[in-house]
Amino acid sequence: MSNAVAQLGSLQSMRPAITADLMAQTGLDECWLTELVHRFYIKVRADAVLGPIFAERIVDWEPHLERMVAFWSSVALMTGRYHGAPVPKHVSLPVTWSHFERWLTLFRETAIETCSPAGAAHVIERAERIARSLNMAVEGAQSASDTAPNLR
Ligand code: HEM
Repeated sequence: MSNAVAQLGSLQSMRPAITADLMAQTGLDECWLTELVHRFYIKVRADAVLGPIFAERIVDWEPHLERMVAFWSSVALMTGRYHGAPVPKHVSLPVTWSHFERWLTLFRETAIETCSPAGAAHVIERAERIARSLNMAVEGAQSASDTAPNLR
């Protein structure tokens, strides 16, 4: 067995204990995360700036919401339930940091309304970090397309 596979195996066997610790520290569970995600996207869809960007790309909201609950379960509770790749889904969006700031404003608001103070602080810290890294990927893709030679 390779070292990496052995490490992955031991990480997987530690996962339930890590998840249990995170649940105890934050008061979060799948039920709270489901509530958070659903409430958050109600706000996003009603938002004058973000709403149209999502509406143009998401027709069937149920699978998106399920994917986002799995994502937050992985990010906040380390359950490993999410297996997607968010970066490629964002790099071509017509967004700048101001869109991410708006996204974060709505997310912070919803987290504070929905979760315990420790749970809200935990998901907000994760969201801020991921938003900064998605924004860097978007900026990278935008500047690469600005400087690409026109081959026509
Ligand atoms: C400017 C702010 C943002 C906009 C406009 C935006 C928009 C979108 C859209 C339209 C999709 C659906 C893409 C598709 O299925 O084709 C999506 C998916 C997703 N977004 Fe965002 N997003 C934003 C910020 C964020 C942030 C900050 C996070 C994480 C904290 C995030 C996490 C995700 C994830 C996990 C998916 C699912 C990717 C997959 O298919 O596995 N997004 N987003």
